[in-house]
Amino acid sequence: MTAPVSHPALDPMMRTPLPAAPSMAYLKPLVADHPKIEAGDFTYIHSFEDPERFADHVKYAFDFIEDKLVIGKFCSIAHGASFVLNGGNHFADRLSSYPFSIFGAWGEPDPGPWPNKGGITIGHDVWIGWDAVIMPGVTVGPGAIIAAKSVVTADVEPYTIVGGNPARPIRKRLPEADIERLLELKWWDWPVETIQAASDALMKADVDALERFTIT
Ligand SMILES: CC(C)(COP(=O)(O)OP(=O)(O)OC[C@H]1O[C@@H](n2cnc3c(N)ncnc32)[C@H](O)[C@@H]1OP(=O)(O)O)[C@@H](O)C(=O)NCCC(=O)NCCS
Repeated sequence: MTAPVSHPALDPMMRTPLPAAPSMAYLKPLVADHPKIEAGDFTYIHSFEDPERFADHVKYAFDFIEDKLVIGKFCSIAHGASFVLNGGNHFADRLSSYPFSIFGAWGEPDPGPWPNKGGITIGHDVWIGWDAVIMPGVTVGPGAIIAAKSVVTADVEPYTIVGGNPARPIRKRLPEADIERLLELKWWDWPVETIQAASDALMKADVDALERFTIT
């Protein structure tokens, strides 16, 4: 294995991993103090406006509601991708979906429970395309790709490309046997220097080459 090379972008808490492109930012430092958002190491976002305002894309996130957006490591999140939490849910199984009880004028506050599908979990190494929308309660498996402009309403299997509204599987990214091995290898949890050494293998479709990094 070659000796690790030091580089500022190996610090997941740095803001701008590519100084020439300040529109790209590692997400972890931007949401470090956010009560509703967690981001894993090296996940980055791109924004044509302001990456610092990522939290504006996490919609209906209210402190008094139990849900969270949890994003894994090494994800790529395109401009405009947004995540809908449960603060916007209305009752759909009543005579009216209008939230009478919140205004005070129409009677007592409704003690609930209000509809809550749970938080959103994005696995490691997920690519979320431009303007995609991820709905509450969705879990996106590791290695998945969300096509541009998709609306994801259901869980996404690992290493699956989904697209459309509602998003449906388009295809698997890799053969099933490779997917199983990748899910075992969990390369995203390796030490940074091992991932650095393995990056050539990660940029090919050769699981054997990646697996060699687990043999000491
Ligand atoms: C999902 C994506 C990766 C698929 O790319 P691809 O593997 O080259 O796939 P193809 O273009 O061959 O399309 C495969 C199928 O998916 C469909 N598809 C592609 N993009 C789609 C989208 N955004 N929504 C719905 N369906 C889509 C195609 O219509 C095609 O369907 P068909 O087989 O019925 O004809 C790509 O379309 C995409 O959305 N990339 C995201 C780009 C982006 O947002 N980048 C932001 C910068 S990070």
